[in-house]
This record gives sequence, structure tokens and C-alpha cells, in this order.
Amino acid sequence: MEKLKFDYKSLDDLKADLQRFDLDLPIEEDVSILGEPINVGKRDLPNRIAIQPMEGCDALPDGSPGELTFRRYERFARGGAGLIWFEAVAVSELARGIDTQLWINENTVDNFAKLVEATRKAGIENNGVDPYLVIQLTFAGRYGKHKIIAVHEEEIDRRSKVDPNKPVITDEELQALEDDFVAAARLAKQAGFDAVDIKHCHRYLLSELLGAHNRPGMYGGSYENRTRFLKNVINKIKAANIDIDITMRLNSWDGIKYPYGWGCDENGNPDLTEPKRLVKELYDMGMKMINISGSTPYLDPHMSRPYDQPSRFGYTPPEHPLIGVHRLLSLVKEIQQAVPDMVVVGTGYSWLRQFAAQVGAGIVKENWAKVIGFGRAAFAYPDLANDIIKQGQMQRNKVCITCSKCSDLKGNARLTGCVVRDNKVYVPPYLELMKDLDQQEA
Ligand SMILES: Cc1cc2nc3c(=O)[nH]c(=O)nc-3n(C[C@H](O)[C@H](O)[C@H](O)COP(=O)(O)O)c2cc1C
Repeated sequence: MEKLKFDYKSLDDLKADLQRFDLDLPIEEDVSILGEPINVGKRDLPNRIAIQPMEGCDALPDGSPGELTFRRYERFARGGAGLIWFEAVAVSELARGIDTQLWINENTVDNFAKLVEATRKAGIENNGVDPYLVIQLTFAGRYGKHKIIAVHEEEIDRRSKVDPNKPVITDEELQALEDDFVAAARLAKQAGFDAVDIKHCHRYLLSELLGAHNRPGMYGGSYENRTRFLKNVINKIKAANIDIDITMRLNSWDGIKYPYGWGCDENGNPDLTEPKRLVKELYDMGMKMINISGSTPYLDPHMSRPYDQPSRFGYTPPEHPLIGVHRLLSLVKEIQQAVPDMVVVGTGYSWLRQFAAQVGAGIVKENWAKVIGFGRAAFAYPDLANDIIKQGQMQRNKVCITCSKCSDLKGNARLTGCVVRDNKVYVPPYLELMKDLDQQEA
């Protein structure tokens, strides 16, 4: 593998690498299309730029948003993005990934309402943009502190440190969990969110269910059974007349071999037959927008978030990151073009640095996706949407450099943000983490 160093000085350098690897990506120099609104349900998105969900590990012990949580979302809104997809928020104590993960419940809902209000105010006062706000509801599952799983797989159990003899969550427990999601949706409406995301990506519990080919009972085996939980939750939210848009973040493919992965063939390569079927069915059930991610960051981070520099615990990517970016964007394209009326939010732009704007504009123009989403880039460069919309480009000196330090922080449950561009706030927790790790290794 060649030594990786991002050195594109111009779009021509990017185009040359696309040619070198025989990849196609649409590129449009006029990025104004990204400023256009689009309807996604009860409201329009004010523009086509989304902030992807990014956990900050800064909730208060009761699950309420903390000071840095408010700071993060106000910065995103001041930055002009039309869609702000709030990070993974637990639906119960059991669902929590770590003790500083957000958790919406009867006691914290008023604090979520304050967060929503502050976020909208920051958008409206600074740009006249009232961002569309989605809350991502989650049950952490095997990657959470309680390590609750839907199905066993030897290699995944080993890598996620799950006891191979641990009983899986029962059908009765899953039925009760459906109601936890409905209760959380009701609270999300009360807090003022525009939509709820029933999170099904990155192999947390519900994502694992989609790939639970070997699970017996009503939530495993057939496609109907593996998608039952999701459809039941949607139908229950509707039956309860909770007046909120329903959306989700879905993995296009898990990167795990059939019969353990969702959207995968026997080699773990993408097979989107079922994901496309599901997205069509969801559209017919009334879902107007879906956010597509991919792979399993705990197993193959280079596929889920292409990077140049591995995290301290990571590995050098075995492929050029442009190949990873292309894979993510192409899988989104396949889904968007299979269900053309669905508003598909794409993922995987941060590694492209400032050229993400022109690639994003090409993607929207050629209908590879209708909205482009920024994850790590948003930590580094929260006002990227304003620069794209008002100046027609992103600034080179503000972009994410895919150094993976935010992943190091999150992976170790430390306050998480951009160590490079937001250094006053995030260098101290990063240095503390490095010190702790050095001591552990000594
Ligand atoms: C520190 C960190 C936290 C993340 N938190 C979430 C999350 O709460 N929910 C989620 O669906 N994805 C989460 N992701 C994944 C991102 O939303 C995104 O899919 C990924 O970073 C790839 O997009 P990018 O190339 O723009 O960064 C997280 C990623 C990182 C690095």
C-alpha cells in the first residue's frame, strides 16, 4: 500500500486519481444546487447540506444535553446546514452505549426541548435558516455497556468481547423495546424535533436484527421477520397519532459475510437486493427521507469513514481512501436510483476535504443522492454550509484532515470533537487520553 497523504491541490488532481483507479464520480463546479430546498414530509429542508449524527460523549449523568452538547448544535445551526441529524440518543438506560450518551426520557425531555430551541434560534438568527431537526433514537446493543445482542457470530463476538454463551435478547424483550421506541418518539415530538430516526446502522442492536438470518423466532430468519421490528415501530408510532416525521439511518451493507450481514453476499461484498426492497417498502409506508451509511465501524472503520491516518488503535487502510469514498457514494446511488422519489441523504464526503462541495453538487445534479451529509467534517468545519452556499466553495484551511482523533476520543468515551480545528476545547481531553494510554501501556 502506498503511503497515504492527501495532496489534491485542485479538482484536476482528484479527477486524475479517479481516472487512475478507474472510478466515476460526478463533479459540478457550480455548487448552487446545494442551496436548493426540498420537501421531506411536513416541512422542507432549507438546503441540501446535512450534518450527520456525531456523538460528542458530553451528556450529563441523567442523559440531558450538557454544555458542550449545546455548543455543538448551536455551532452546526449557525453554520447554515439545512438538516441537522442529532447524534445517537438512547431510548432507555439499557440502551445506553456509555454513561455520557444522551438519553431522552420523562426527566430529560425539557432539556432536549431547550436544546431544540437553542439550535433553531442559532440557525434563524444567523442565517434565516430554520434547520430541519432529526433525533437519532438508538439501542446500542453489542457495542453498548450492557452488550445486549440479537444473534451470535463467533468472530464478531470475539472482536466485540461478547461472551459466546451469553443469551440473546428474547422476542418478548424485543416486543417491549418496540414500545420504548414509540415512547421516545412521543418525547421527541414534545421536545420539538421534526423527525425521529429509528437507527438501523453500524451493527448496533436493530442493525444487527436486519442481518439476523440465523436467529429463530419472529425477529429472525426471513426478510419479513428481520424487518419486523422496524415496521412494527413505524406502525405503532402512526397508530399512536404522534405527529412527527419518521425516518431512519440504514446501512446499505454491513461488510459482514452472509448469513450474518445485512445487504451482503457470501464474501461480505454489497448485495443491495434487500436494502432496495426495504427502502421501497418504507417509501410506500410514508417515509419520505432516509439516511444511508454503510459498513461496521467497529470492524472495518476504513470502509465506514475513509481516512488517511489511522486512530492510535487502528490500522493503515488496506485500500486508497478514494476507493472507500467511491464505494459509499455508489451504494447510495444504487438505492437513490431504485427509489427515485425518496429523499436519500448520502454519507462519506469528509475525506474529500474542500472538494466535497463540487462532488456533492455533482451527486445532487446526477441524482446519486438528494442531500449530502458531513460527519467528521462538521466537527472540524461547522460553518461549511454557509461557505458552500454563500461563497460557492469550501475553504482548504478549515477542512477535516481525517486524522481519526475524534474517533480515538469517542472510542474511549472522552469528550469528542475536532482536536485539530477546535483545539482549545478538544486538545485537553485528547492529551489526557494519550497520557492515560501511555500509563496503561508502560
Ligand atoms: C466520533 C464519531 C461519532 C459518530 N457518531 C455517530 C452517531 O451518533 N450516529 C451515527 O449514525 N453515526 C455516527 N458516526 C458516523 C458518522 O455519522 C459518519 O457516518 C462517518 O463519520 C462517515 O462520514 P464522514 O466521512 O463525513 O465522516 C460517528 C463517527 C465518528 C467519527
